[in-house]
Amino acid sequence: MEKKAQLYEGKAKKLFETSDPDLVIQYFKDDATAFNAQKKGTIKDKGIVNNNMSARLFRLLEEESIPTHFVKQLSDREMLVKKLKILPVEVVVRNIIAGSLAKRLGIEEGIPAPFPIVEFYYKNDALGDPLVTEDHIRVLGLATAEQVRDIKNYSLRINDVLMKFFDERDILLVDFKLEFGMHNNDLLLGDEIAPDTCRLWDKKSLEKLDKDRFRRDLGKVEEAYQEVLKRVMK
Ligand code: TMP
Ligand code: ASP
Repeated sequence: MEKKAQLYEGKAKKLFETSDPDLVIQYFKDDATAFNAQKKGTIKDKGIVNNNMSARLFRLLEEESIPTHFVKQLSDREMLVKKLKILPVEVVVRNIIAGSLAKRLGIEEGIPAPFPIVEFYYKNDALGDPLVTEDHIRVLGLATAEQVRDIKNYSLRINDVLMKFFDERDILLVDFKLEFGMHNNDLLLGDEIAPDTCRLWDKKSLEKLDKDRFRRDLGKVEEAYQEVLKRVMK
């Protein structure tokens, strides 16, 4: 598939047009940001890890009848995907309390949630991606009630599939972020599923194997990404 003009450059990825107006190439960079881009850096070969891992997980989800934007992997850093109109809502699913929820509720990190917690965030850098309720989503017209219902159902099914997958690899899926978009009239999972967008802890040692190593300056960032990729591809 021929790569044409660049359509968009985000913090971690670039999108390119192709000769097919329905398809775009998603290119994964090594650039890393945190805290709404106040912290910036690079993680060597992160783009390769995130592309290969996302491709593996999108294939897994497709096998489980969850529709995604994934078409095929093109190279170490590129995948061909269906062009989406991304809904400006980020979905976070949490199995263990951590990160912003630990802070917001004053609960210690590492306490298991009694059931998977689903949260929505308004994708808006100027506002710092605030937490929003389903009513807020409707007030802002970010998604319809039907889209919100479908997003929630897909997200919980994705959580079931991914929890089992990571458990088999001795990894706890603590939480993760998803983005959905419309392709014609279909709601599809978009973006990526990788250590940038998930919290992944080693089941035995509880060692963090995700972007929190970068966010919190814990060291061994590259090593953690490579370890996750190795376990995901086994
Ligand atoms: P949080 O605890 O900081 O709200 O993060 C929840 C999950 O969402 C965690 O797995 C990391 C992921 N995440 C992103 O993918 N992008 C973001 O901008 C943020 C803040 C979190
Ligand atoms: N990628 C996000 C940013 O730079 C934040 C994060 O993942 O922590 O804002």
